[in-house]
Amino acid sequence: KRPAGAPDAKLARPIQKVGVVGAGLMASQLALLFARQLKVPVVMTDIDQSRVDKGVAYVRGEVDKLLAKGRISTDAANRTKALVTGSVSKAAFGDADFVIEAVFEELAVKQQVFAELESVVTPECILATNTSSLSVTAMAEGLEHPERVVGFHFFNPVAVMPLVEVVRAPLTDDAVLATAFVLAKSLKKTAVLVKDAAAFVVNRVLLRLMGEVTAAFDEGTPAEVADSALKPLGLPMSPFTLASMVGLPVAQHVAESLHASFGNRFHVSANQQALIDAGVKGLWAQTDERSQEIP
Ligand code: CAA
Repeated sequence: KRPAGAPDAKLARPIQKVGVVGAGLMASQLALLFARQLKVPVVMTDIDQSRVDKGVAYVRGEVDKLLAKGRISTDAANRTKALVTGSVSKAAFGDADFVIEAVFEELAVKQQVFAELESVVTPECILATNTSSLSVTAMAEGLEHPERVVGFHFFNPVAVMPLVEVVRAPLTDDAVLATAFVLAKSLKKTAVLVKDAAAFVVNRVLLRLMGEVTAAFDEGTPAEVADSALKPLGLPMSPFTLASMVGLPVAQHVAESLHASFGNRFHVSANQQALIDAGVKGLWAQTDERSQEIP
């Protein structure tokens, strides 16, 4: 059955090479997913070689973990590792059919990335954004081929979260949208078409919840109490554990952008340092330090 809003799958274009802009936590997880599920070459870029190397090393490390758990064969592990490469130059995207950006969550940065991409990719290459809160319409504006832009928003951890929010900008064409839906299916994800509104659907709900927990802390409830009070409600992960997995600066940044769009419906804690001092520090410190960086 065709998902709501998805054009005819026959319009979808084949994807034989993927580009990922960024080599941070989200970008590296995306590179792994594309290589593993699509079995096509994936090239990651970032602003310097050490970031690129870190991203490629992350992918290899995750493949080794899958191998150790018996989730993939030695052949599949070697093939997946060989498919993922890195470069400091976007020229590496010259023969890509689909490029997804997962860089710093700032509109001007993403617009610049797309403008740079247009000078190196083919006219048909699809430009996707993994933005979790920004306007896809604004990202497409001013491009030579705005019809190729689509929102393709994944959730952390990418390997296990089943949803992708697909976002259509006013000029996105049917072939591009159809490709996004077919691609999500090949990646074994469920795609939903959401309106291009700040933070789409999922993060609006999630950030309301996180905002209320943080507000309770700001009003005097100890952080550990506020955090653990919610766990018995059946959440898969307590709110602060989730914030530390996503990265506290990233979570804070999304909260700020929702506050800017919707006002006081979204709480932004002025007490980030106090949260850490209050004992959440142990929790933050347990996480992979990479997740603390803004991708
Ligand atoms: N990377 C890769 N795989 C991971 C992983 C990670 N970070 N974390 C867990 N997994 C895998 C485990 O390896 C395990 O796989 P196997 O069955 O092959 O061993 C599987 O997921 C289940 O893990 P666990 O049994 O250890 O733990 P769990 O049952 O508690 O599930 C979870 C883990 C799926 C992450 C679950 O806790 C959960 O759903 N948490 C909420 C996550 C969430 O809400 N994410 C949205 C974040 S918002 C977002 O992404 C932000 C944004 O746009 C800014």
